[in-house]
Parts: sequence; structure tokens; C-alpha cells
Amino acid sequence: MSTAGLQITQMSSGYGKTDVLHNINLTVNPGEIVTVIGSNGAGKSTTLRTISGLVRPTQGQTTFEGIDLARMEPDRIVRSGIVHVPEGRRIFSRLTVLENLEMGAYIRRDPYQKDLEQVYEFFPILSNRLTQKAGTLSGGEQQMLAIGRALLTKPKLLLLDEPSLGLAPLVVQDIFRIIRKIHEEGIMILLVEQNALQALKLANRAYVLETGRVVLEGPADELLASPQIQKSYLGESIGRAEEEIA
Ligand SMILES: Nc1ncnc2c1ncn2[C@@H]1O[C@H](COP(=O)(O)OP(=O)(O)OP(=O)(O)O)[C@@H](O)[C@H]1O
Ligand SMILES: [Mg+2]
Repeated sequence: MSTAGLQITQMSSGYGKTDVLHNINLTVNPGEIVTVIGSNGAGKSTTLRTISGLVRPTQGQTTFEGIDLARMEPDRIVRSGIVHVPEGRRIFSRLTVLENLEMGAYIRRDPYQKDLEQVYEFFPILSNRLTQKAGTLSGGEQQMLAIGRALLTKPKLLLLDEPSLGLAPLVVQDIFRIIRKIHEEGIMILLVEQNALQALKLANRAYVLETGRVVLEGPADELLASPQIQKSYLGESIGRAEEEIA
């Protein structure tokens, strides 16, 4: 078995005495965008929280580049190259945009000016608002800031929890376009989304979570074409289009 990338084996995890994830197997290989889709409460966020050390697994093994993450504190996990952009984009609203970005670089001892400039390239809007308080940004801009801040840690693997949630369709397109660009820079991406259509279009591979279990996995284009996925996760529009064709 390869030791590169992220390898989750038979992992269970949850809150208090109750497991909400059961025997999860999931990998992200170098060069991949992998997506996890599933309904509300399926355990998508818990999966990311367990990888980043915010929630402790009760069973199983998680390794990144061959190193066991099980007993690592969250900040060590960040240092190992994994950064988590949580649901609801927790930016520091009273700090400026630049101060928020610099928070991302807190673990670093090397110069990060180049990475700041790359973030400005990804998100030109942010570079025009460096002295603005983050709390005054629009929802889409706050999401961009949260991703920008994560990039300042110079991650190898970016965990994104519902980056498109609550954003207008055009902004969603923007965010997905930028995720693709970040991936082209060689960063592995594990993307959790309720917007299954967009996520499957973007990803190489996908996992479907239902009540804490992986019920389906495979190449994203195969899942996109699966009638079961279309019926359950891709909404009315595609279903209706299929019926019209048939
Ligand atoms: N802090 C917590 N304490 C106790 N139970 C929790 C906590 N966070 C989540 N849960 C429970 O764990 C299960 C999985 O939640 P999780 O947030 O991982 O789902 P999700 O797939 O991300 O859902 P959503 O699409 O709504 O974000 C749910 O039943 C939820 O109620
Ligand atoms: Mg969630």
C-alpha cells in the first residue's frame, strides 16, 4: 500500500460516547481532488474534523505521508501539511483582511511574501481590501479570505468544508474555479459539499456518506452518471432532464 497522501483505514469517530462515523476507509492520493458528498448529518464535517484532530477517532488509523495522525495535536497536524477550512468560514471579523491572512502564516518561520502575492492572484478582490475589517466583507469574500488564510500555511492537503454554502451562483462558480487553480498548484484537496453536482464535476474521485458510512465510492465521472446518485443527490433538474430525453 502506498504511504503517500492521506490514508484513512477503518476509522470510527464521534462525540462523547456516540460514534457518528463507522469504519471509514478513504484516501487522497498526491495530485487528487477528492470529494465527500452526503445529506445533512451524514458525517461529512466530522470526517474533516477527525482528520484535522479536532475530533478524536475511537478506532482505526489515519496517516499522512506515512505519519500517524492519531495522537497529534491539531497544530502539529497543520505543521505536517494539512489545513482545514471549516464550515461557516471562521474568520476573525474584527481583524483586517491582511491580519487574517497573516494569522495563516503563524506557524511559519520562512518568508511568506510570495505566498501572500499568490493569494492576491487567486483572489484579486482581497488585495483591494487589505485594511478593511474582515467582518465587513461579503459572504463570498469571507470564504475567499478563509481559503487564502489556509493557503498561507503552505498546505500539502487542503480540507474544505462546504465552501459554496450560502453563496450566490456566480460566486459559487468563482470559488470552484479557484479550487481548481489551487489544485493545479499541486495541492491535494478533500472537498466536502452538499452541492454534489459541482463537486463531482471538479473532483477526480468521490465518496458518498450516509449516516456515517461510506455507501459508494469511485471516479467522480462514474458517480455523476449513476442513476442512484442522480436521484438522491443531484436534484430535480437532472432527473427531469433525463425523463424528458427518455
Ligand atoms: N459537536 C457535536 N456534538 C454532538 N454531536 C454532533 C456534534 N457535531 C455533529 N454532531 C452529530 O454528528 C452527526 C454528523 O454531523 P456532521 O456535522 O458531521 O454532518 P454533516 O454531514 O457535516 O452535515 P451538514 O451537511 O449538515 O453539515 C450528526 O448527527 C450531528 O448531529
Ligand atoms: Mg457539515
